[in-house]
Amino acid sequence: MKIVTCVAPVNIAVIKYWGKRDEELILPLNDSISASLSTDIICAKTTIMASPLLNENKFWLNGKEQDFGNLRLQNCLKNIRKRCNPALPHLNWNISICSKNNFPTAAGLASSAAGYACLVSALAALYEIEGDISHIARQGSGSACRSIYGGWVQWHRGVLESGEDSIAKPIAPYTHWPQMRLLILIVNDARKKYSSTSGMKTSVKTSTLIKLRAEKVVPQRIQAMREAILEKDFDRFAEITMKDSNQFHAICLDTFPPCNYINDVSHAIIDAVHCYNDFKGENKVAYTFDAGPNACLYLLESEVEEFLSIINYVFPIATDTPEVEYFKGLPTEKLPIQNDWIKSLSLTPNSPGMLKYIIHTKVGDGPQILTDSSDHLLQANGLPKS
Ligand code: DP6
Repeated sequence: MKIVTCVAPVNIAVIKYWGKRDEELILPLNDSISASLSTDIICAKTTIMASPLLNENKFWLNGKEQDFGNLRLQNCLKNIRKRCNPALPHLNWNISICSKNNFPTAAGLASSAAGYACLVSALAALYEIEGDISHIARQGSGSACRSIYGGWVQWHRGVLESGEDSIAKPIAPYTHWPQMRLLILIVNDARKKYSSTSGMKTSVKTSTLIKLRAEKVVPQRIQAMREAILEKDFDRFAEITMKDSNQFHAICLDTFPPCNYINDVSHAIIDAVHCYNDFKGENKVAYTFDAGPNACLYLLESEVEEFLSIINYVFPIATDTPEVEYFKGLPTEKLPIQNDWIKSLSLTPNSPGMLKYIIHTKVGDGPQILTDSSDHLLQANGLPKS
């Protein structure tokens, strides 16, 4: 019997991936850049067991059994097995896969990126594969290829039809910019959304803006973003991040029918960030939104408490929500807002409960193999532990 357990990070793009040039191989129209987030706060975890005693292949995700025939899962498995030594004894044994995210799916974070990066990293360890596996993770979910590395990562779109050169490469490790923090504001919103996969498919078919973005805007932005990260130039980093998020959502509106992912609360967060940056005379906070209303705010450690005092004023916590459940992740001191902030920023509080909760985290390392047997999600018989 062979068993492997792995954790992998969520990543938040600062130059967005939106649109495929090949649906089957998951090849993007443009390069993208993201940071992988610390797995100490939020992560996906996967255990895979191969055993001659397993009668069939099985897959559980967040406690629910899934269809093992899922095309994206099968593609990852097929591509990993193609690469391994055919003499491996456990290559032909059945496998049990058990995955879970330690953050609620309702958080609307790109759980598939962390999930597929984790699955592919665990499979690579199980079948003893070396070398790049980001192009395999890409075939699970495009953005998953960036979660194969820690720190700051670029997904190169590649030019080959085979997709072999559409891979992620690190720009800088997480230790490069240790002051970088993220506040993820989970917006209370129950509406069902278009998935990224179907939204971007409609964008490619119907948006004229998307072509301009992929061909003219992104290549320059990628260059500028790489420089901003390498030089740790927050002001420039923030401007490109916000502009790129806004352009991505402009494309969503240019899609027909439009896929409107951000809502009024998201817009109120955007306004609060711009007010703060204007007052400070430079960009101190950057927002970015994926395919949903939740805001991911990049900011330096030195700004967290002050900016959080503004967020807590503008978006008061619901009276029945305990603080321990509302503020998750890295600890922060809760400062009261300064009176002159309220006046100078002309801030008005919204009704309580617009935000579900807030996660405070930082940039972190890539996937890790966990060796302690208590970390495994599967029992010796191949069934989930709980
Ligand atoms: C808005 O990677 O989830 O988060 O490749 O179809 O699985 P598929 O899409 P997915 O799209 C992520 C889109 C995004 C932007 C980004 O992370 O770059």
